Order: sequence, then C-alpha cells, then structure tokens
Amino acid sequence: MKKPVITGIGAYVPKGILTNKDLEKIVDTSDEWITTRTGIQERRIAAENETASDLALEAAKIALKRAGVRARNLDYIIFATATPDMLFPSAACILQHKLGAKHAACFDIAAGCSGFIYALSIAEKFIVSGDANNILVVGAEVLSRIVDWSDRSTCVLFGDGAGAVVISAMDGDRGIISTMLRSDGSYGDLLKLPGGGSLYPASHETVDNKLHYIKMQGNEVFKKAVKAMEDIAAEILEKNGFQGKDVDLLVPHQANLRIISAVQKRVNIPENRTYINIHKYGNTSAASIPIALYEASERGFLRERDLVLCVAFGAGFTWGAGLIRW
Ligand code: UT7
Repeated sequence: MKKPVITGIGAYVPKGILTNKDLEKIVDTSDEWITTRTGIQERRIAAENETASDLALEAAKIALKRAGVRARNLDYIIFATATPDMLFPSAACILQHKLGAKHAACFDIAAGCSGFIYALSIAEKFIVSGDANNILVVGAEVLSRIVDWSDRSTCVLFGDGAGAVVISAMDGDRGIISTMLRSDGSYGDLLKLPGGGSLYPASHETVDNKLHYIKMQGNEVFKKAVKAMEDIAAEILEKNGFQGKDVDLLVPHQANLRIISAVQKRVNIPENRTYINIHKYGNTSAASIPIALYEASERGFLRERDLVLCVAFGAGFTWGAGLIRW
C-alpha cells in the first residue's frame, strides 16, 4: 500500500506588517496586554487587491517546486479556508485555474482553524485508497477582511497568510501515520461569522449590525480549546503507541501562546521541540500549521524521519490532530 508523504511544502505571507504598537492607535489596547495574553507581537495584512487564492498561489508554487510535481499532475486540490475569495466558485477551483491544474478535482473545507488538519486527513484517505497520486492541500486566509477593527477583543488576534503541502503516494514507511478529527456543533455560537449566508443574507441591516465580522467569546473558546487540544494530542499519541518523548516536533495551531503551553505540558513536549511563530503572524486560522511547518523545515528544525505532531482547534467547534513521519 502506498503511503501519503508530504513531498513539498511552501508558505507565503503578505508584506504588510501591523504591530501591536500600530493597534494601540486603532483600539483601546496595549502591546503589553496583547503580548502577555496571547504571545502575538505583529501580524501580516494582505494588500487590498490580494485574496486568499492569491496568497495560496504563491505558497502552492513553492510546494509544487519542492515536490517536483507539475500542477497538471495534481489529482485534487483541497483548500481549507474561512475566507474564500467568494462563496462560490470554491477557492480551490479559483486556485486550480491560476495554477493550470487542469486534471485536479477541487473543493474547499470549512472547518475554521482546524481546516488544514481536516484537509490533510481527507488527502490521506484519497492516497491510501489508491484514488490519487498527488494532492495539493492548502490553508490560506485573509482574516483581516472579516475582522471588526473596532472590536479590541478580536482584532488584535488575527493575521493573513497561506501554507501549502503536496502529498504524494510513495513507497516506504515515511508519511502521514494517523489523523484524528472531532467536532461539536453545540458550541457554534461561541465563534462565528453570522452574516452573508442563508440565515442572514447581506442587507443594509446585516452590515449596520456588523454581522459580516468574526464574533468570538474568547474566554469560553479558550477553555474548550485547551481541553480539546490537550486531549486529542494525548489520544493520537497513545493510539499509535507513542509518548511525548518520541515526538521530535510539536507544530500546534497558533492561536494563543498560553494554549500552546498547556498542550506542551499535557503531552510532555518541551519548548525546544515545539514550533512557535505566533509572535510574527498571530492567528492565521487554517494557514497557521502549514506556515509553521514550512518555516520549521526551512530553518532546519525538521529532519527526514522526524516524528511530527500537529494539533488544531477552531470554529464549529472542530479539532483534530495529525502524526507524521517526516
Ligand atoms: O483559533 C481558534 C479559536 N480561537 C482561540 O483559540 C482563541 C481563544 N481565546 C483566547 O485566546 C483568549 O480568550 C483571548 C486572547 C481572546 C482573551 O484573553 P482572556 O485572558 O481570555 O481575556 P478576557 O476575554 O477574559 O478579557 C480580560 C480583560 C477584559 O477586561 P475586564 O472585563 O477584565 O475589565 C477585556 O475587556 O481584558 C480585556 N480585553 C482587552 N484589553 C486590552 C480584551 N481584549 C483586550 C485588548 N486589549 N485587546
């Protein structure tokens, strides 16, 4: 049976930088509050003409080049995002056209900040079943477009960016070992963007009521995120016969440094084996794990055959984990 192996990885972040000091001029906040409560120091903001598929295109080009795979040899494009260019066509189809990936079947995944893990898990199954040889999995977000810049409880948290991996069917024992996905829709109200769907279609009223922006009850989300990420990290390790000491690199979703620390402690993985870049990018939702994986690989933190543990949590609620023999 062929293994789903990450053969190429890429990332792209927009050039614009918004620091905590810049935010002090926009809302009633402080660099000190943001840094101590979240770990974030700055985040990237897309240019006015940049969309999620534009950021994804740059990340995908790097990933394809590294994998040595041509766009026309892709069987699927799976695009995880909460900020697609538009409701339809899917961001995946828009990206397909930009890449010239004529033979790929394309669709988006709506799983909030867990989107990349969800997409990875679907790609894993397509490869293992023999249905696909090469899949492009993307996580890309332009969250700056759905943030209420007058709401200090959310606008300081999010940033824009994209990451992409090519997953190919390979012989050998490297690749995705296991993925686990979980959801609990009963918590949907705690983190949502209510406007623009069939419940509240765009109208003057929805705009006046700011329904097209992220609404989050941060503290409640925080508690659930910590527990869910800790539990699933422990569960995936146990299920596959590993312990924290076996993990070479923990690559968690970057939503809050305090959440990351809690996960590290629960599964016994020290800071020097955890990849953290939240200070530079904030929470980039579905893009955060692939951006972190790319940086870790570029900076020499990932060697062939390393055991990598990825864990995410997001709107839905959704959460999930992936174990990869790099
Ligand atoms: O990505 C997937 C899902 N998202 C997450 O996982 C995010 C989870 N949540 C969090 O990371 C944290 O809950 C936040 C960083 C969002 C907030 O931290 P917190 O420690 O939970 O703060 P809080 O919401 O309980 O607010 C504490 C205080 C409040 O003031 P009072 O009521 O104590 O006077 C807030 O009004 O901090 C205030 N506050 C701020 N102060 C300065 C909230 N936002 C700000 C701000 N600057 N930006």
